[in-house]
Amino acid sequence: MKRIVVLTGAGISAESGLRTFRDSNGLWEEHRIEDVATYQAWQRNQQLVLDFYNQRRKQLYEVNPNAGHMALAELEKKYDVHIITQNVDDLHERAGSSNVLHLHGELKKVRSTLDENLVYELDGWELRKGDLCEKGSQLRPHIVWFGEAVPMIEPAIALSAEADIFIVIGTSLNVYPAASLVYYVRNSTPVYLIDPNAEMIQGLKNITIFREPAGTGVPKLVNQLMKSN
Ligand code: OAD
Repeated sequence: MKRIVVLTGAGISAESGLRTFRDSNGLWEEHRIEDVATYQAWQRNQQLVLDFYNQRRKQLYEVNPNAGHMALAELEKKYDVHIITQNVDDLHERAGSSNVLHLHGELKKVRSTLDENLVYELDGWELRKGDLCEKGSQLRPHIVWFGEAVPMIEPAIALSAEADIFIVIGTSLNVYPAASLVYYVRNSTPVYLIDPNAEMIQGLKNITIFREPAGTGVPKLVNQLMKSN
């Protein structure tokens, strides 16, 4: 089976009703990264950080996977599919994708501030001050904040280097190290970009661009790939 590796960003979940970060009306227009998405922010004002992620988590319970997520799950009938997502939502899993690697953490999980190996599924949407791990320390969102290490980048690099086909969907490729994954893809591997604002990626030759929303672009590409294999 050919291996397809897919790198997704906030754009694939946009049509489900989740806001992206950097588009106009994106989340980073309303909130400052320094206030809600760094360890320093957490040290300064835990409640503000908890509120920000509680809102995101609450909303996640109100939305559903869209045609883009669904089409990717469909690909597994003919390909060995691995999704590397920058998203902290669980819409790929809910659409039925089996192999999903979360680079930036997962909204529905929380972890200990004392021992990062203590990770829990949160019951419901709200994480509160005073919610403790089994060792008695405050729980924090299981999110990779700016400035923190990205532990899953090594397996993501290995997957990218072994891709027979590489697909990039709905990411501005602004955040590293995630954005560097495209440079680990072999020269012979075809790369597809699906994003209404997609631009060529410097240094990559074998690129096909679908300059359209994931909800139509992904099913189109998947259709094409299902026929060609
Ligand atoms: P961005 O908000 O930076 O980029 C979203 C991309 O999605 C843009 O390129 C849009 O053109 C595209 N887009 C918008 N609507 C779309 C649609 N319907 N279909 C397809 N594409 C669409 O989001 P990311 O690149 O995912 O990290 O951001 C990367 C990281 O920055 C996030 O994981 C998050 C953020 O800060 C952390 O919080 C650690």
